[in-house]
Amino acid sequence: MSKLEQSKLPAHVAIIMDGNGRWAKMRGLPRAEGHIHGLESVRNIVTLTRKLHIPFLTLYAFSKENWTRPRAEVKKLLTLLGSFLESELQLMMDEDIRFRVVGNIMDFPKRLQTQLNAAMQKTSNNSSLSLNIALSYSGREEILNAVREIINDVKMGHITNIDENVFQGYLYTKGMPDPDLLIRTSGEIRVSNFLLWQIAYTEIYVTDTLWPDFREDAYMKALTEYTKRERRFGSVKENSSGRA
Ligand code: FPP
Repeated sequence: MSKLEQSKLPAHVAIIMDGNGRWAKMRGLPRAEGHIHGLESVRNIVTLTRKLHIPFLTLYAFSKENWTRPRAEVKKLLTLLGSFLESELQLMMDEDIRFRVVGNIMDFPKRLQTQLNAAMQKTSNNSSLSLNIALSYSGREEILNAVREIINDVKMGHITNIDENVFQGYLYTKGMPDPDLLIRTSGEIRVSNFLLWQIAYTEIYVTDTLWPDFREDAYMKALTEYTKRERRFGSVKENSSGRA
């Protein structure tokens, strides 16, 4: 940890947790085992993020498209989510972690909705780390919903001017900084409908490591690489000749 320059660390890390199925297949195990070990990685990464004082972490746990997976797998993922909330809620309170859902909570069974709402409510005053779990999430749908709400608010006379700041206020990530770093595990080089508006200038880091193997060392490697990147936001670096 000492090698990392704290001031250069990202304020918001987003992660596409991929490769649970392949991890299990490589070991001749059912896919569910990959998700169980993947959940252990979630615990590890959340703990380290908190230790490093990175204030925002957004994990892509379940996309809108994931509903089309076999029923048994969807059921397993929902069960894991429920037990994660049950077992980690006290820890989130102890560690001052705020839990938030990014996505459409209404798509979930009533009991899970109640659990998710209760966790959001209970942790709402925590402020050391904002842990966002993307659930039934679709970036395109998020943008479309924002457009629908904006049209409605314009009609009602609530807003007259639309700019990037106003638009941001209609997203699930309202009030949060955009991710500085997007990590994708398991080597796929695509964004899979994740935070489409928010990642406009995000640094992307792809690793071949499968999510269940993505633990402290792999995370530190990603963060170290991020601290070495030069971010320009479409501009150019000021050079020795003084030109910007
Ligand atoms: C991608 O691997 C992973 C998922 C679709 C689910 C991620 C879920 C977890 C890590 C566990 C639950 C998490 C929480 C926060 C409760 P994949 O199944 O697409 O893997 P593959 O591409 O190798 O098939």
